Amino acid sequence: MRDLFDRIQEDKGPLGKWAKQAEGYFVFPKLEGNISNRMIFNGKKVVTWSINDYLGLANHPEVLKVDGAAASEHGMAYPMGARMMSGHTVFHEQLEKECAEFVDKEAAYLVNFGYQGMVSAIDALVTKNDVIVYDMDTHACIIDGVRLHAGKRFVYKHNDIESFEKNLKRATKIAEQTGGGILVVSEGVFGMRGEQGRLKEIVELKKKYKFRLLVDDAHGFGTLGEGGRGTGFEQGVQDGIDVYFATFAKSMAGIGAFFAGDADIIQYLQYNMRSQMFAKSLPMAMVKGALKRLDMIRTMPELKDKLWQITNALQSGLRNAGFDLGTTQTCITPVFLKGDIPEAMAMVHDLRENYGIFCSIVVYPVIPKGLIILRLIPTAAHTQEDIDDTIAAFSGIRSKLESGVYKRIGATMI
Ligand SMILES: Cc1ncc(COP(=O)(O)O)c(C=O)c1O
Repeated sequence: MRDLFDRIQEDKGPLGKWAKQAEGYFVFPKLEGNISNRMIFNGKKVVTWSINDYLGLANHPEVLKVDGAAASEHGMAYPMGARMMSGHTVFHEQLEKECAEFVDKEAAYLVNFGYQGMVSAIDALVTKNDVIVYDMDTHACIIDGVRLHAGKRFVYKHNDIESFEKNLKRATKIAEQTGGGILVVSEGVFGMRGEQGRLKEIVELKKKYKFRLLVDDAHGFGTLGEGGRGTGFEQGVQDGIDVYFATFAKSMAGIGAFFAGDADIIQYLQYNMRSQMFAKSLPMAMVKGALKRLDMIRTMPELKDKLWQITNALQSGLRNAGFDLGTTQTCITPVFLKGDIPEAMAMVHDLRENYGIFCSIVVYPVIPKGLIILRLIPTAAHTQEDIDDTIAAFSGIRSKLESGVYKRIGATMI
């Protein structure tokens, strides 16, 4: 028998093994200063394209005022205890009512973190007789929820309706044998490449097959659809979404999340999502802050308009400069380049240090070997100058990448 930690000394995990080369720079970087279009990294001002503050609310003076007032009135603890026990308030209820109304559902329930909420919601919605059908590219929180499932699951090729229907047929066969039902899970917007989930076609198949649809709309909420009501509205199928999920961690620039749907289903989740039943309730500063943000989303459509003006200028500018943005249909702006991991590291280092551009980088194993995605998240707080500087910088790094400059530098970084 060996000591449990021996293995950990030998195997730090797929990301952990890069800690020595990457920590503090490529992973766990420190972005300092107020959340905005230009922040400080490594002592230098950089254009920040890596934060999901879509509507520019994070540092809005009205938001800061409400957050500060709520924190000074209630501290960061109130209410104490889980919602079910002693952590419930009229403000939590009010926020749920307003979230439900906003996304046109009967009821909503708050969760402390979207991630944990999603894991528990999937766990609560299915039993071993039920079958889950989900998209191959879904977020880790959905994968973890599916991992808890004791019954059958089928994964379909990303956004591929033919593959979806094939797996739905398989699921139907199993559910007919077990006497269970089918839960389909998709994202409204896929966060890596920016495609919308094919909700319209999925909902259309409800005419042919019997299933319930759960949609994670983390990136669609606030950015898509009439008034920012999300991807279901964008595609005209909000009614076909049985359980709608959005997090406050992106457009709402806060923390927390919610599920919305028919009142009886939401009540069921309220009484059965273990990560919420046995965890402390959202603090009041988060709840009052979320009420303020939701009100601003409702009453200030200019925020979403500005987001899209910046998004369109960024995406058309990059495309006109010859960059491949893949199949994005949303604000998420992936720039596809070709190169290996050391080249990607050298290129991102150059972007940050010499061009003053900070964006996320995605490489193998998240995407196929030889591909690099530089992922830009535009926000309402960005400017045309940010876009111009970025396109100029990207043109500069592309020339260096193509001429092999980063291959030489990258080899010394690993
Ligand atoms: C698609 C998706 N779902 C869920 C989450 C988790 O939400 P939270 O940050 O509220 O835990 C995220 C990331 O924040 C996400 O991108």
